[in-house]
Amino acid sequence: MSVLVTGATGFLGGHLCALLLRSEQVCCVVRGRTDQGADERLRAHLTRLGGPFDQERLTVVRGDLSRPRMGLSAAVHTRLAERVETVYHCAATVNLAAPRESLLPGNVTATREVVRFARHRRVKALHHVSSVAVFAAARELGCAEVDETTEPVLAMSGRFGYSQTKFLGEEQVRLAAAEGLPVTVYRPGAILGHSRDWEFSDTDLWTRLVRAAVEVGAAPDSPATMPGAPVDHTAAMIVHLSRLPGVAGRVFHPNLLEPIPVGFVFDQVRAAGYDLPAVDPVTWKQELLRHAHLPAAGLVLACWAGIAYMVVPEPRYLPPHSRARLTTSAAPLPEPVLDRAYFTRMLEGVAARGFIPKV
Ligand SMILES: NC(=O)c1ccc[n+]([C@@H]2O[C@H](COP(=O)([O-])OP(=O)(O)OC[C@H]3O[C@@H](n4cnc5c(N)ncnc54)[C@H](OP(=O)(O)O)[C@@H]3O)[C@@H](O)[C@H]2O)c1
Repeated sequence: MSVLVTGATGFLGGHLCALLLRSEQVCCVVRGRTDQGADERLRAHLTRLGGPFDQERLTVVRGDLSRPRMGLSAAVHTRLAERVETVYHCAATVNLAAPRESLLPGNVTATREVVRFARHRRVKALHHVSSVAVFAAARELGCAEVDETTEPVLAMSGRFGYSQTKFLGEEQVRLAAAEGLPVTVYRPGAILGHSRDWEFSDTDLWTRLVRAAVEVGAAPDSPATMPGAPVDHTAAMIVHLSRLPGVAGRVFHPNLLEPIPVGFVFDQVRAAGYDLPAVDPVTWKQELLRHAHLPAAGLVLACWAGIAYMVVPEPRYLPPHSRARLTTSAAPLPEPVLDRAYFTRMLEGVAARGFIPKV
């Protein structure tokens, strides 16, 4: 028997897969032009993230989750469906700039196909990775605080396609759960750089915000707090929780116990030596517009519909306070400390890639 992981060529999925490979046979569905290309891409990614691993434990099948049968032949789909007993669905199109329609295949159709797979031939446990973005606008609906027990509705997911399609993906698994599939939902917040080396993803929102702030020479004075955790902690929590008995039907927020104030992150950037006067969020957006021709400012503006919930240019963009108490008590793993040293490594990593000047 084995587990099937989707999204293993990604940031969180890669770390999750590397952890599972320490003790399990893992099969991954990976996009690629050729079988060999998909196989080599994933093995290189996992080695880059986590170092050497037991290559014999990994099987790669080339597919595309947004296509019928996850893009697999009927024979391969059925063979896998008979062998796999647990599915970790981590794949998604993570793009805050894209319109909702273009995100439906990656975030909704793909989830539907994964649910079909989880039901085919034998019932499998499905661990579905969603996002706290489904609550981005919950405060507007009267929820100043959200946790694992809060029931999301579409209107809570804010004014951007990514969060809306993550909500619709959750709907797919909720329906399946109501029909008897053992489903566990995980809602990470911001997936931050690794707690030890600050290796980070190109889609990391904090990095993008910091890059834009350094580029325009000012930081937004935001009142928002953001749930999240370093990627290794998020992956470790998901693996830990998924192995507990009785988690079918439960929802977890694999984040640090307390959300991170946006202002705290910019304080750390200043402490590291970057001169970033705090300006009110409306002025900061004007600064971005003035610098829209620059890469980081342009990128943040393109993702503004989502990033507005971190910057809060108007009160309606203030996200709810997001708690993870039930999750951290179910998975009492030692929390990485986001201290001066962590942020210094973050800034060194961002500078090493040439995104910001070194101080
Ligand atoms: N990043 C965050 O801060 C954040 C926060 C909360 C929740 N999440 C959720 O956490 C999960 C992982 O996020 P991430 O940031 O690690 O994402 P990521 O690095 O962008 O990786 C996404 C993964 O999904 C795969 N994928 C997308 N569409 C696919 C398809 N049609 N068929 C097969 N594979 C497909 C990608 O494959 P390719 O390599 O082929 O593109 C990649 O492996 C997602 O569910 C995301 O919504 C992320």
